[in-house]
Amino acid sequence: MCGIVAYIGTKPARDLLLEGLKRLEYRGYDSSGLAVINGKVNVARSMGRVAGLEEIVTKDAGFDGTIGIAHTRWATHGEPSERNAHPHSDDEKNGHGIQLVHNGIIENYVSLKKYLIGKGHVFTSDTDTEVLAHLIGELYDGDLERAVQSALREVTGAYAIAVVCKQEPDILVVARKGSPLLVGVGKDEYVVASDSSAIVAHTTQAFLLDDETVARLTHDSFRTTTVENVELTPEIQELEFTLEQIELGNFDHFMLKEIYEQPNTLRTCIQGRIDAASRQIVLGGVTDFENEIVKAKRILLLGQGTALHAAMIGEYLFEKLAGIPTEVEFASEFRYRNPIVEEGTIAIAVSQSGETADTLAAVQEAKRRGALTFGAVNVVGSTISRETDAGVYLRVGPEIGVASTKAFIGQVAVLTMLATYIGRRHQLSREEVSELLSSLEQIPDHIATVLEQSDHILEVTKGVVDRDNWLFLGRGTNYPVALEGALKLKEISYIHAEGMPAAEMKHGPIALIDKGMPVVIVATKGSQYEKVIGNMEEVRSRGGHVIAVATEGDTNIKAHCDDVFYVPDVPEPLQPLLTVIPLQLLAYHAAVLRGKDVDKPRNLAKSVTVE
Ligand code: G6P
Repeated sequence: MCGIVAYIGTKPARDLLLEGLKRLEYRGYDSSGLAVINGKVNVARSMGRVAGLEEIVTKDAGFDGTIGIAHTRWATHGEPSERNAHPHSDDEKNGHGIQLVHNGIIENYVSLKKYLIGKGHVFTSDTDTEVLAHLIGELYDGDLERAVQSALREVTGAYAIAVVCKQEPDILVVARKGSPLLVGVGKDEYVVASDSSAIVAHTTQAFLLDDETVARLTHDSFRTTTVENVELTPEIQELEFTLEQIELGNFDHFMLKEIYEQPNTLRTCIQGRIDAASRQIVLGGVTDFENEIVKAKRILLLGQGTALHAAMIGEYLFEKLAGIPTEVEFASEFRYRNPIVEEGTIAIAVSQSGETADTLAAVQEAKRRGALTFGAVNVVGSTISRETDAGVYLRVGPEIGVASTKAFIGQVAVLTMLATYIGRRHQLSREEVSELLSSLEQIPDHIATVLEQSDHILEVTKGVVDRDNWLFLGRGTNYPVALEGALKLKEISYIHAEGMPAAEMKHGPIALIDKGMPVVIVATKGSQYEKVIGNMEEVRSRGGHVIAVATEGDTNIKAHCDDVFYVPDVPEPLQPLLTVIPLQLLAYHAAVLRGKDVDKPRNLAKSVTVE
């Protein structure tokens, strides 16, 4: 959801900004732009990908300076177009030469715009961002930091901003509320970015700006204050990931790289969390609230997109393993009802980025209504991880592909461990836990086995990739896997796909089935196996093309389907960690075969920081 990079130092800003934008491009790619101070403030904007911007600025000496700001956009207010691309200025002819990039939404921009028009300001875009640039210009009296502080006191909404001004060519001012912003601290330089992937190539020392905090940077000093101008001392920390983790290496796409990383990322996720001697789960992030968590009367799981599907699996796990009533909710719906949060409720926010606006707002609402809040989050130090009372990090490393894969495995694994941890204190015997954990420890190797079928999955995909409508069916914990399979396919290949409980198909969607329609059915061995076979026959008898995900050794399945992908036999609660893998590969191959941009699907953004 929009990426920001800003630089002040001694190196050429242009190269660094372009490189940073490319790393942040997964956050949005409707348009991009940058401003560099070199005598005056030079600005370039371009529709579409960063490569277009690069062409404009590469040979232009106007962009040779050492201070600049840059932006890659995911449109919210105002269509994707050059005039709506950032940076925005306070008025390129009559203003103070202020240029600003912004991630977030200024909610009261309509009233501010009216006020500024009354003061004679002329607007050239449809964005809320331009209003903020004009407001800073209106309040500017020779001190950019002060003008930014004053303007931010007037706005409601969310922002991460970076601002430069022609009249103060040695200063960069950045600020944040609600949207993430990190300040990388190098030698005689600062690199500011929406996330650390644009920083680690330059420095591993950084501090996260707190909400409603402003930083004023020169090439060799910084000062942070609240918007009320109270001075603060930020804590500089070591960034946790390496450059290698955010490079493609030998893979064609980040999504494929991340699919193949899953055996290792799952190992890292569970490492040290299963005590070898006692065969128990050890979760550091739970210790302070152990009592409340174990005694929970109700669990509420909140998320969006892929994280919601992981949460839906969590619902089965908490009820089956821990025996605790559990509900799962779209975070976006939860907060706009009148949710009843009873005493003893734990609200668990499931999120890769830890920044999804709906999930954040929902967990805040649950907290306000008395729930203990918990984060199952990947990005360390993200807003959700900081705003929840307790939590467990996914530890799957940076996820760059817009379509989430390894984070899903991490989310399901964390929820499995948490459910087992609570379950052991309620109803699970030591032997049951020990067996489950031994199986969990073997899952990384099993994932590697499933990945070996990629060529076979590609061949099967070739046979059906021209079909525009697909169904994905599953039961129990594999129902959310069906939803996830359908989501992956539509996100990156733009094929229309619907996921649903296998039994639900009879209540309407069966009317869609015609000759050759691909229907992917998760039909692994388990309590509902026979019923799923029945559903497969219902599809086949209407001419549908059945692709089954089945348990290794199940030769019987071949009589009921056209194609089959096998996964190793594991206990039912752990099956989603394997059954989702062929569906990720299926979606990947379909997108590549259809010539789509796998890592940057149209209209999507990796992290949705607006509601
Ligand atoms: C966006 C992404 C999805 C992701 C969802 C939730 O829609 O495109 O891949 O699942 O947000 O993101 P989160 O960071 O909260 O897991």
